[in-house]
Amino acid sequence: MWRPVRTSWWRNAVFYQVYVRSFSDSDNDGIGDLPGITSRLDYLESLGVDGVWLTPFYPSPQKDHGYDVADYYGVEPRYGMLDDFDDLIAQAHQRGLKVLIDIVPNHTSDHHPWFEAALSSPDDPHRDLYHFAKGKDGAPPNNWMSAFGGPAWTQAGAAGDWYLHLFAPQQPDLNWRNRAVPAEFHKILKYWLDRGADGFRIDVAVALFKREDLADRPLVPHRITGEPVTAPGFDIIDQAEVHGVYRGWRKLAGEYEPERVLLGEIFDPARQPRYIKPDELHMAFALIDRWWNAALWKSAIDVFRHAVSRGTSLPSWTLSNHDVVRHVTRLGGNGTGRDRAKAAALLLFGLPGQCFVYQGDELGLEEAYVPPERRQDPLVIRTKGANQGRDGCRVPMPWREHEPNAGFSTAPPWLPMPPGWGRSAVDAQARSTTSMLSLYRRLLATRRGLARRLPATMRWAPAPKDCLVYGRGPLTVACNFSRRPQKLELAGRLLLASSPGVTAHGETLKLPPNSAAWLETRRSAGS
Ligand code: NOJ
Repeated sequence: MWRPVRTSWWRNAVFYQVYVRSFSDSDNDGIGDLPGITSRLDYLESLGVDGVWLTPFYPSPQKDHGYDVADYYGVEPRYGMLDDFDDLIAQAHQRGLKVLIDIVPNHTSDHHPWFEAALSSPDDPHRDLYHFAKGKDGAPPNNWMSAFGGPAWTQAGAAGDWYLHLFAPQQPDLNWRNRAVPAEFHKILKYWLDRGADGFRIDVAVALFKREDLADRPLVPHRITGEPVTAPGFDIIDQAEVHGVYRGWRKLAGEYEPERVLLGEIFDPARQPRYIKPDELHMAFALIDRWWNAALWKSAIDVFRHAVSRGTSLPSWTLSNHDVVRHVTRLGGNGTGRDRAKAAALLLFGLPGQCFVYQGDELGLEEAYVPPERRQDPLVIRTKGANQGRDGCRVPMPWREHEPNAGFSTAPPWLPMPPGWGRSAVDAQARSTTSMLSLYRRLLATRRGLARRLPATMRWAPAPKDCLVYGRGPLTVACNFSRRPQKLELAGRLLLASSPGVTAHGETLKLPPNSAAWLETRRSAGS
């Protein structure tokens, strides 16, 4: 007998990540906005997702496109007003769609009133809400580096002290050991939950507390080059105190009916078990970014399954997001990349757990080329172009093939669209039965149709080299990673095929190169 999956609303849900700036522009200023998202809810409903995750829409100087928050209680004027947020929530809920919002607790913007007050005088009490420290002979207080390049410290204010920023200098890190910080975030969370948010995606969830002694990271010679590099196993983040904060947030989330949900931006499977717990966070991302290889994908899937599946949690399968190169490109680009992306979606989204679709995944968008002078990512700016940055996966959505700017906006979009971008548009793909969009619609509808009969567990079944096969109750999923067609001894009704060449006759499933299939079987493969 299959054990049914316990049904909290978020368990096994499919979420769609909206990168607010690039989704849909309602006021034609070239930048996406909240009313633009509301106007596309029918699209999201017809795609078959259960909810959306909105990237930060708060008032912000946009130095990291919203991940630099100046006011946690409002809406960036370029994205709309609070009324627009309320309307978006109301209309999403009317359609049965949940709305997760992004919370950025690790750092504020340097334009946040707390930081402005902190810089106003060396004695201002707000300084203790951040990490200010004395330099060492004109150099930063320690050797910590910013994730965006360069030292994690910048000198500011009359006293010549340095402040810590693990990201851009315009994103000063908060000092969570000062009680005013957790107290304020409790208020912020409650404010948005009371406004109707169904949960939070927590930015940089493991970094809130830093090593208290601010000790230098030990350096060791690199294995090959001999250059000094930071020694592994010396954590400046991931400190024990953070768990008390998350226990408090979980309690708050549980005070709402139905329960609200906490999703940690935690990719490292080794860290996930400490955070994804019945009294802390509900879920974290299982981003599969390996080369297209059966053994690598199998081990990545297993690592994430075992990281969180201790009784109550399941992985949140993800192929792309706004920080990584789009997976069609990662998987080889062009036709091959798209074939593999289709197969990958079937392979991953049949697994027990939640799914995250990044906007444009369902269109098979590739990483776009953004000319160097048009790049805006602080990662590009801080590394002086040595890092190509993340603009290529943030180019706005193409909605209509033959409209200016592919129907995103009548104004030139904030990031330029490469030639031919409109060919991937929603309207063009909706007309084709073999498009990525049509496959995603079928995939999500089939998943939803089977949901009640799918257990929370899966089992790998024997498979030829370069193929993976697993069973999950009545569902068998098979994927061919190789460049050659494969014949598998599998009988069942073909529910879904990633390519028209997939056939299932009698005991034989034929998979063309880079393809996958869902079969309905009486006996689960692997059982
Ligand atoms: C993770 C976000 O996803 C990324 O876009 C941002 O730059 C950093 N956190 C800093 O907030």
